[in-house]
Amino acid sequence: MSVAAIRAAIFDAYGTLLDVHAAMQKHAARLGPDWQRISQDWRVKQIEYSWVRSLTGPAQHRDFYTLTSEALDWVAARHGITDRALLADVLAAYRRLSAYAEVPDVLRRLQANGIGRAILSNGEPSMLADAVGAAGIDALLDAVLSVEAVGVYKPDQRVYRLALERFGLPPSEMAFVSSNPWDAFGARVFGFRVFWVNRSGLPDEYGLRGSVQVLSDLSRLPDALA
Ligand code: LAC
Repeated sequence: MSVAAIRAAIFDAYGTLLDVHAAMQKHAARLGPDWQRISQDWRVKQIEYSWVRSLTGPAQHRDFYTLTSEALDWVAARHGITDRALLADVLAAYRRLSAYAEVPDVLRRLQANGIGRAILSNGEPSMLADAVGAAGIDALLDAVLSVEAVGVYKPDQRVYRLALERFGLPPSEMAFVSSNPWDAFGARVFGFRVFWVNRSGLPDEYGLRGSVQVLSDLSRLPDALA
């Protein structure tokens, strides 16, 4: 059975190209020894807000920066963080997250192989622009697509359609790359060839093992798509 050649790779941003825990890591000394748990809680709450806002309907939509800020306020209250200056610094750092070390090289190799490259993210356009600029990867991407174009969050299927419209390719000729199992599942349902980046060896969910390709980081992606 022949598999269609991949002509574009679509990346989730937060957690896949960008290290979402880099913001709290930067201020770890001020946050204290629990910073990693606090950062995990922040991420979970941020994503929960995105799903609840999507499920309750268009009038409840708020952009991802707002949800990120609201989630930080909740997590601060939960963990007794009252230093407003620290919270402002953490939120500012979230706009300038570092990319995982292998990201620029992976994007360059895909570019050299003639494969299109884009981000498709929950992030709103200005936070994504800040992030890709800070990570130095803006010139390596053909497009940075935001859910704000449809006003609903992943894994709503309308979001994945944005990538299809941008590249004008069938989903079988597009790879979708995400570290979020629920996002990988949504993209699989949509019909993309999916790569789940499981950096920390998390257990299987949504039957991903067997239906998508699993990578431990992004470095082998260009070979997998060649
Ligand atoms: C994103 C979140 C889901 O970048 O990580 O879309």
